[in-house]
Amino acid sequence: MVTFDAKIPSKVKNSPAVRGNIVITSALPYANGEIHLGHITSTYLPADILARYLRSTNHKVLYLCGSDDYGTPILVKAEKENKSPEDYVKFWNERDQKDFKKLGISFDIFYKTSSPENIKLSQEFFRILGKRGFIFKKTVSQPYCEHDKKFLPDRYVKGTCPHCNATEQYSDGCEKCGRALEPGEIKNEHCAICGRKPVKKESEHYFLRLSAFSKELRSWLLANENLQEDVKNYVLKWIDEGLKEWDITRDIPWGVPVPGDDKKVFYGWFDNAIGYAATAIKYFGDEGRAKKFWNSAKIYHYIGKDIVYHHYLFMTAIRLITKQFKEPDYIPTRGHLLLQNQKFSKSRGWYISLEDFLNEFPADYLRYYLSSITTYSQQDINFDWKEFQSKINNELVANVGNFVNRTLTFTNSHFDGKIPEPENEKKLGAKSLDRKKEILNRLEMIPALVGEGIESNHHDRSLKKILEFSSACNNYFQSEEPWNNKNNKTCLYVCANACRTLAILLEPFLPFSSEKILGMLNAKKDPWSAAGEFKIKPGHKIRKAEILFNKVEDDAINKRLQKLGGVKELLDIEDFKKLDIRIGKVLSAENVPKSEKLLKLQIDIGNETRQCVAGMAKFYNPQDLVGKDVVVVANLKPVKFMGLESQCMLLAAEKGDKITVLKPDKDVGQGALIR
Ligand code: 2FM
Ligand code: ZN
Repeated sequence: MVTFDAKIPSKVKNSPAVRGNIVITSALPYANGEIHLGHITSTYLPADILARYLRSTNHKVLYLCGSDDYGTPILVKAEKENKSPEDYVKFWNERDQKDFKKLGISFDIFYKTSSPENIKLSQEFFRILGKRGFIFKKTVSQPYCEHDKKFLPDRYVKGTCPHCNATEQYSDGCEKCGRALEPGEIKNEHCAICGRKPVKKESEHYFLRLSAFSKELRSWLLANENLQEDVKNYVLKWIDEGLKEWDITRDIPWGVPVPGDDKKVFYGWFDNAIGYAATAIKYFGDEGRAKKFWNSAKIYHYIGKDIVYHHYLFMTAIRLITKQFKEPDYIPTRGHLLLQNQKFSKSRGWYISLEDFLNEFPADYLRYYLSSITTYSQQDINFDWKEFQSKINNELVANVGNFVNRTLTFTNSHFDGKIPEPENEKKLGAKSLDRKKEILNRLEMIPALVGEGIESNHHDRSLKKILEFSSACNNYFQSEEPWNNKNNKTCLYVCANACRTLAILLEPFLPFSSEKILGMLNAKKDPWSAAGEFKIKPGHKIRKAEILFNKVEDDAINKRLQKLGGVKELLDIEDFKKLDIRIGKVLSAENVPKSEKLLKLQIDIGNETRQCVAGMAKFYNPQDLVGKDVVVVANLKPVKFMGLESQCMLLAAEKGDKITVLKPDKDVGQGALIR
């Protein structure tokens, strides 16, 4: 006999193994620019889903994050904006918090690496590492700008990538080909501030002897069964290839001061990884309490695949050596987000900022779409505007939204908003009874199924299960045809409770919509273990039904695609080099008969005279051009205009109805090449 008795799925009820203290972190965003969808996909959204789920299953969760304030790139940017680094990072810290809040990211604390707690803890860890023999000093030769009187670490040096020849790349990595660069590898080094060539100057740095800890790191990796196998394997390979000693100090004035050395600060990657624990200290207000919680908790660090080395090796080594805050249990690592199958690039405009997205679409649409396409793997994820539209319209609007809406609307219109008393089972026909059995079974099973997916980090699979459940509910409603069936009370009673179940299960994914559903149901937010219960009783009064999700219209998507279409593709320098652009002198010029637009010019390009047919008649009198030095492209295939061959192209600048030919600033002579 199928009953409406409270049924607590056994897996959820009897799962003490997953109860307890939990620390969840998301990689700390650099305080130097807005959060974009790439960050959200790998790092913030999956962590938030787990945090919300674990809170709902009675765990004591500390979900922490903060801004990553130190380092050369931030100092360079602050200097460029004429701001103090303190003001600069404060601005981004506050801005990030606002953006995260709009997306419903439920940090328990969002702090910063430039905090007194982190300065103290980083210095303390440095001392412990020193005492244990893991720190040594070495003199290194570093670029130094005599003009700016500065050592130039990392992003203070720019140059040409030795792998792909892209120019104006930072010395620590090429944005064009994505390769990380070692100090000294970049070609045509120049100072990022003044453009001058740096000299080499010696400086003494502190290093972490990472290689001496290889064996322990290896054992830790092998013993930890929670880590993703594929990531673990390539980290083991790095260890086998030999770990490099790690330069943990920098000669810049913005960072955690190195104790006993008034000129140096720590490299950002030393103190930011310590920032996780320092933020816990801030949260608990006391180091002892923070350690007690942390060391009895399961620790999850959510990251994107570009920072595996730092988390699996540097950070873990520091934790294992210092023995203050325990090492990670999980380091869930996900791939990069692509946009329409191309790499995100802020400089090219091929990118979506979180703020921009949320100005147009509800936060839950983003949470839904990204969660449903993001797998628990290193695979890159592709944001596709058309797929986004179809998923929202076909899955959220047509499935979940439709079910909730029809249930509540019908209850309001036919039962005056009061949940009806279900009929005695004997009165239900055989088919209705079967359908009821089926839906009650699903209701009983679904919380555990969804929970399993979230616990094992397969959030996409959990979401799929919820959608299947919602679809089954829709089918149930449809088959029962409450609009022409007198025995429709059972159906409405079951469906109202199924809406409540959906609201609880959707909460980690779609917190805003979950709250709306519960609001319309006039029900409170119960824990996960009660998700499958029939808590909405006959006679309970619901509120007015409002549309839960609105369709994403073609217009909105087309606008987005057009905007991207306007983004110019970047060319390789090699493409540019193919052009023969040079200075020429106009020897003669005349109007082309019967043409309002065209002029025929003879241009001396150094070693020969070329005929050029140019659309300049409306802007220049022919005689005004004669004798002028101009710029031409000399290696284009000849083309004919009104029967006249044009053997080179005259370059001109155009804006609106203004047009001007280009001319050199100094006399360099015909044939001078433009590079
Ligand atoms: O890659 C980044 O964006 C870094 N700011 C992440 C830092 S995570 C850390 F704190 F360990
Ligand atoms: Zn300089």
